[in-house]
Amino acid sequence: MINLKNIPVSKEDLDLYEVEHNFQSWSYQPAQSPLRVVSAKGVRFTTEDGRERLDFSSCFVSHNIGHQDSRVVEAIADQAKTLCSFAPSFSTKPRALLAKMLAEVTPGDLSRSFISLGGTEANEAAVKICHQYTDRRKMLARYRTYHGGTATSMSLSAGDPRNWAQVLGGTELISVPQPYCYRCMFGQKYPECNLQCVKYIDEVIELEGGGDKVAGIICEPVTGANGIIVPPPEYFPELREICDRWGILLIADEVMSGFGRTGKWFAVDHWNVVPDIMTMAKGLSGAYAPLGATIVRKHIGDRFKEQFFSHGATYAGHALACSAAVAVIPIYQEDNLIENSEKMGNYLLEKAVELQDKHASVGEVRGLGLFVGLELVKNKKTREPIISLNAKIKPGMNPKLEVAKKLGELGMMAMAANPSNVIAMAPPLIVTKDEIDEGIGIMDQALEVADAYAEN
Ligand SMILES: Cc1ncc(COP(=O)(O)O)c(C=O)c1O
Repeated sequence: MINLKNIPVSKEDLDLYEVEHNFQSWSYQPAQSPLRVVSAKGVRFTTEDGRERLDFSSCFVSHNIGHQDSRVVEAIADQAKTLCSFAPSFSTKPRALLAKMLAEVTPGDLSRSFISLGGTEANEAAVKICHQYTDRRKMLARYRTYHGGTATSMSLSAGDPRNWAQVLGGTELISVPQPYCYRCMFGQKYPECNLQCVKYIDEVIELEGGGDKVAGIICEPVTGANGIIVPPPEYFPELREICDRWGILLIADEVMSGFGRTGKWFAVDHWNVVPDIMTMAKGLSGAYAPLGATIVRKHIGDRFKEQFFSHGATYAGHALACSAAVAVIPIYQEDNLIENSEKMGNYLLEKAVELQDKHASVGEVRGLGLFVGLELVKNKKTREPIISLNAKIKPGMNPKLEVAKKLGELGMMAMAANPSNVIAMAPPLIVTKDEIDEGIGIMDQALEVADAYAEN
C-alpha cells in the first residue's frame, strides 16, 4: 500500500482515479474523467480549466438557494465545531429545530418527520410508513416517474429506463398513467377528457381490492426528470378525494418540486392539497449536506406513539446535515426566494415559449415556477419523439446528449441527461432576469443541434 498521506494529486493522477476507481451514476462508465469542478458561487460554477459556466439545472434541482452561500457555510462550520453527529436515539438542537421548521412550512397538519439522507431514503421511509399504517401491501405509482435509486424507490419508478434492471421487492406495485397531456395515453384532450387519467386510477384501485388491499399512491406533484409534467389544476384535488373515499394514503414526492421550485413552498400548495405523507430532499438543505425527510399528517404520526416505528438509520437526523437545513430554510423566507421563483419562472416560461416558436425541434414548452421543460421532437405535427425512451440506456450519443454537450461548450449546464425527451431549465431561485436572458441565449444556440434532426 502507498503512503496514504502522499497520494499523487496532479491533474492526470486525479483523472486516472476517477476513471479507474469511481462508479459514475446511471451511465456507461466514461473512458475519460468528467470535468472537475473547483468552485461555485451563486448561479455559476468554475471548472479546473478555469472556465466559468451558468448552472441552469441547480445540480439536478438541488442547489435551490445558489452555491456557497456564506450564511449556510458558517452555520455548518459552527455546528461542526460543536457536534458533528450523535446517535439518533439522542436529540440534537438542529434536529429538533428542523422538525419544527418542517411542520411550519408544509401544508395542513403535516407535522412529524423522519429525517434521512436523501430523496430515495425519504421515499423508502414513506412506503414503509404507508404499509405499517394501513397493514396493506399494494402501492400505486405512476409511469414516467423517478422516486430514487434504492430498491423500493426504483421499483416505484416504472417507465423510467433506470428501473429496467430492477428486480421487484416486497411492495406489490401497480403502475398507472401520468397526466401527460402532450402524449395522453387515452388519446384525449384536456379539458374535454374530463380527466380520464385520474378516473382510471379510481377504477384500478377498485379492481385491486380498494381500501382492503391498496395502501397508497405515490406521485411527483410536478414530475421532474421524466419530463416536467404539470398536471391540470383539478388533478390533485380529484386524486385527494379518491384517496379519501377509498381510505388510502396519498404520498407527494416533493424531492424535486419542493422548496420553492415551482413558485410555492411545495407544488401541492398550488392546488391546496394536503397529502398524507410528503417526502423531500434536495432544496431541503439546498444540497449543502445530504438530507431527506418524510413528513406525515398528525393522525399518522400519533399512531406511531402506540405502534412500533419500524425504520431507522445510523445517520438519521445527522446534526451537521440538519444544521445546513436549519440555515437554508429561513433563507427562502428572508430573501423572498419563493416569490422570485414565481416571478422569474413566469419570465423563463415566456422566453422558452419564444424558443418553441423559433425552433423546429421544440414540440412543447411547459413548466411551473423555475421548473421549465422543452420537449424535443422530430416532427411538431406528428409529435414523434427526438429520442426513444431506451436511448438513455443505449451506448453512445443521441440528439439530446448532443444538445447537452453543445450547452456545455457554450457555457451552461441544463438538465438533459434524464430519460425523457425534455431538456429542463431549473436555475437556482436567486436567478435574475439578466441571467435568464443569458441562459436563454445559450439555449437558443444549442437547440440548433436538435433542429438538425427535426423535419420542418
Ligand atoms: C422526484 C424525485 N424523487 C426522488 C429522487 C431521489 O433523490 P436522491 O437522488 O436524493 O436519492 C429524485 C432524484 O432526482 C427525484 O427527482
